[in-house]
Amino acid sequence: MKRVFSGVQPTGNITIGNYLGAIKQFVTYQEDNDAFYCVVDLHSITLPQDPKELHKNSLSVAAMYMAVGLDPSKCTIFLQSSVKEHAELGWFLQCMSSTGELSRMTQFKDKSRGQESAPTGLFTYPTLMAADILLYDTNYVPVGNDQKQHLELTRDLAMRFNNRFGKTFVVPEYKEQKVGARIMSLDEPTSKMSKSNPNEHSRICLLDPPNKVKKSLMRSTTDSDMEVRFDPENKAGVSNLLTIYSAFSGLSIKDLEKKYEGLGYGTFKKELVVVVNDSLAEIQDKYNKIIDSPELLEVLKTGADRAREVASATMDRVKKNMGF
Ligand code: ADP
Ligand code: NA
Repeated sequence: MKRVFSGVQPTGNITIGNYLGAIKQFVTYQEDNDAFYCVVDLHSITLPQDPKELHKNSLSVAAMYMAVGLDPSKCTIFLQSSVKEHAELGWFLQCMSSTGELSRMTQFKDKSRGQESAPTGLFTYPTLMAADILLYDTNYVPVGNDQKQHLELTRDLAMRFNNRFGKTFVVPEYKEQKVGARIMSLDEPTSKMSKSNPNEHSRICLLDPPNKVKKSLMRSTTDSDMEVRFDPENKAGVSNLLTIYSAFSGLSIKDLEKKYEGLGYGTFKKELVVVVNDSLAEIQDKYNKIIDSPELLEVLKTGADRAREVASATMDRVKKNMGF
């Protein structure tokens, strides 16, 4: 069986970008793989976090994993901070990486922009992400395409380590997905939809109420030519809405173009609102049942025990091969 690993940060509400770009794939991958899905809470402290919110947000992401269909009898769900090997291997991999290659990471450039002095953790973030992946002898990493560069670095670090210290890590593969790999902001469809954008109407979160979804979608940026056509370069806004529509409905973009031929954006947007809200209602219903249940804590405890077993075996191998 192939190993799969992925994670989501507990930094605010999960967006449909996180869902369509990553978590929806987690559900598929749990079926035929040995999959580990982590709430990467150590990553979330690369930017300031409120201690009162941190754990609550972690539980919320874990509950969301289950609400969208992750089944703890088919995959391992856990919090990163429960398995100390993540931080430990993160240090080892920092020592394998160079400041030059980390400086080239576009996420660091984006997130540190305008900051006089960015946190060091923001800079070394990709080495911790590499540790997350390599600890589990991971073959596949379902992530949105904003993470492609970090995954390339992970592969480089794994190969570099294996070359220097003998075969230690499995080198993971990046798998490109077709629909939803990059969901764009609704207000400015040239940048990716993100949890942290100050404009709440730039995104849709899985926990948004129907009215908020309606408002954000109806006011989303389109263009003046009124034609529902997929053309990301010239019609970024409409193309993004088509991607979202297709991902939630299962209809192909071609079929959607046909369906809305000559109908204009108003009708298209209104029907998209219904499609998205129907999907979210189902997810929210499950989420509400899980979030305060004792089962959630049980799942995370069992998950951490299982994760620790695999991670500590890898860490033993790393230390032995490095000469500790
Ligand atoms: P965020 O980028 O919203 O802070 P994370 O860094 O926790 O979220 O990313 C969680 C997963 O969601 C990653 O696999 C990432 O690639 C994916 N992801 C984030 N934003 C988008 C987006 N706009 N479109 C597609 N996938 C995304
Ligand atoms: Na599985």
